Amino acid sequence: MDVVIVGSFMTDLMSYCTDFPEPGETVHGHKFKKSFGGKGANQCIMAQRLGGKTAMIGRVGDDGYGIEHLEHFKKHSVNVDHIYKTEKEQTGVANIIVNDKGQNCIVIVSAANLKLNENDLKAAEVVIKSAKVLVTQMEILPTTALAALKIAKKHGVKTILNVAPVPKALPDEIYKLVDYFCVNELEAASLWGNPVNSIEDANKSAKEFIHRGCSNVILTLGKMGSVFVTEAGINPIHIPAQEVKAVDSTGAGDAFVGSLAFYLATRPDLPVQEIIRRSNDIATASVLKPGTQDSYPYKKDLSHELFA
Ligand code: RIB
Ligand code: NA
Repeated sequence: MDVVIVGSFMTDLMSYCTDFPEPGETVHGHKFKKSFGGKGANQCIMAQRLGGKTAMIGRVGDDGYGIEHLEHFKKHSVNVDHIYKTEKEQTGVANIIVNDKGQNCIVIVSAANLKLNENDLKAAEVVIKSAKVLVTQMEILPTTALAALKIAKKHGVKTILNVAPVPKALPDEIYKLVDYFCVNELEAASLWGNPVNSIEDANKSAKEFIHRGCSNVILTLGKMGSVFVTEAGINPIHIPAQEVKAVDSTGAGDAFVGSLAFYLATRPDLPVQEIIRRSNDIATASVLKPGTQDSYPYKKDLSHELFA
């Protein structure tokens, strides 16, 4: 196993309109799309489409959406042995509005995702142990994510934590369990307690997360690219991004994290800044198409250079 994901499933209900509505306002949208989503599921599908061997640990509800996710994962040949169904519970949903600038607003109802628990992880310990990289995020309970990181660490599996969305309380002990701490500028600002508006701010916040205990920090800054800081004390490295006109940036962050996990697992020979550059390029490809997982490229669609 290359990558094991402990995370969420959401059914994305996406409406496209010119501008976001104001509170109390009704606006006409011009397109609707239902897409497979959820940060965990997105990251898993991305890593799998690049050619990684992946397993997903998560919970769906006992409804039609849950069955659709499971079928979709089976079609992608993801290991689904630890996708559990919660009786009398809904599968997670995300209501998403995308404006003409390709920006989005999202409301998630995590539902069954919040029922994923430590016993589920214990049952999946053999799979976690067999993986090279474990990835988790915050659309499940922070305590469940913490337990997943602990199991991974116990077995020497590399860990990625994507603190998205930022929970009300992130357990302090979580930082020390993280090899790669991944956040965007808004998440970094919220965790750091100061705004992140420049590469300079990003460097400062990344150093703070290193100070809190994680080994490496990758901060994604949209058009400004990414910042990478390691515990080795090397100066922050800035990796610029390609400039494109976004159609729909929903799930681009997950395309990045899924690619990162794929490369860390399968190409440990590459320098991390090169892995970040490649992951950025793949995430950029996803913003050129509407939808979440629907917009993720397959290995065959991407330049050979990304796999050299
Ligand atoms: O990161 C994008 C994802 O966030 C969407 O797929 C949606 O489900 C929300 O969870
Ligand atoms: Na997209």
